[in-house]
Formats: sequence, C-alpha cells, structure tokens
Amino acid sequence: MEKITLHDKTFRLFIPNQDIEKAIDAVALQLNQDYADSTDQDPAILLCTLNGAVIFAAELLKRVNFPLVLKACKLSSYQGTSSTGVVKTDVPLPNNLEGKRVIIVEDIVDTGNTIVAMTEQLRQKNVKDARVCTLLLKKDVYDKDVKLDYVAMEIPNRFIVGFGLDYDELGRNIKDIYVLDD
Ligand code: IMP
Ligand code: MG
Repeated sequence: MEKITLHDKTFRLFIPNQDIEKAIDAVALQLNQDYADSTDQDPAILLCTLNGAVIFAAELLKRVNFPLVLKACKLSSYQGTSSTGVVKTDVPLPNNLEGKRVIIVEDIVDTGNTIVAMTEQLRQKNVKDARVCTLLLKKDVYDKDVKLDYVAMEIPNRFIVGFGLDYDELGRNIKDIYVLDD
C-alpha cells in the first residue's frame, strides 16, 4: 500500500520490508563476527528495548549464532510525533548484569536521550561492555557522545512508523516503514 492512515495522520511508504531485512542481514553479520568469542559460560546479553525494538530484536535473533541471553526493558520518551525530552523507565533494566557484555537493541535513535539514559544505567550496573545496536538513526538530530556501534539504516529527521515503531501505539504491526506525509 502506498499510503496509510493512523489516528489523524497520513503516512506514505518510505522503506520497503526487503530493504529493512537486507540492512538487518548486514548488522547481524557484523555481530556474528564481533561476538564469535561468546561462550555458554559467558554469553552476550541482548537487551531489547520494548516496545519499538521487538521486531528488530526478533529479526536479529533469527540471524545471530553466538551464545546469548535475551533480556528486555522498557523506556519511553515520545508522545505523539515528538520527543518529550524526559526518559521514563516503565520496566527497569534487568539485574545481574555485572561483568556482562551487553548489546542494547533499539528501534531508533533520535535525540539520543534514551540511549544516554540506558548506557548510564548499565555503567552503574558495572557491565563489562555496552554497545548500541539500532535499526535506525536520525543522524542530523543525534548530538550525544555515546558511540552507536551498529546502525542498520540512517534516515533524515522525519517521523516514521512501522516495523515496530508506532504513532501513539498504532502502526507497530506494519511490515514496511512509512513516513509522515505532510
Ligand atoms: P530519543 O530518546 O530521542 O533518541 O528517542 C528514541 C525513542 O523515541 C525511540 O526508541 C522511539 O520509541 C521514539 N522515536 C523516535 N523517533 C521516532 C519516530 O520517528 N517514530 C516513532 N518513534 C520514534
Ligand atoms: Mg522505543
């Protein structure tokens, strides 16, 4: 479908599913190289940030082949189509992460407030290493110092939905990515 409507807004097709999947293939390949030394005794922690990253995390899980443990947390900062600037913790980060190598799986990095809050919380938990793996990056907006280790796709500063991303909770179950049509 070329156009969709969610709540009061119209969106047009932006990134077709096959392009998203190709970008995920490339990121998974990198992860498989970088975490090849994970072991059953010392598995990597794949930390999925709910709800937006749930599809990306599932697609990664189908493609990565090193020992890992799946965990989740839920942070939110968006209301409607813009950031509130305040990061709320709805489901806290897991305990027992001390000495672990953590891969933060995010749907999208925009201002970076969420990723800054998460890496700070992980630092306080004395993780061995925390890397960021994001499906999307709004690179003209992001102005923080946290290194974004794995970025599947860069997009301009536009509001998008689909493939896990929502507009006021709708649109997560659309398999392509759509952009606000204004
Ligand atoms: P940040 O904290 O400003 O980097 O925002 C990151 C969070 O805001 C993401 O995890 C998303 O939940 C949400 N977000 C940012 N941009 C978009 C967008 O274009 N569409 C839907 N959600 C977005
Ligand atoms: Mg999110």
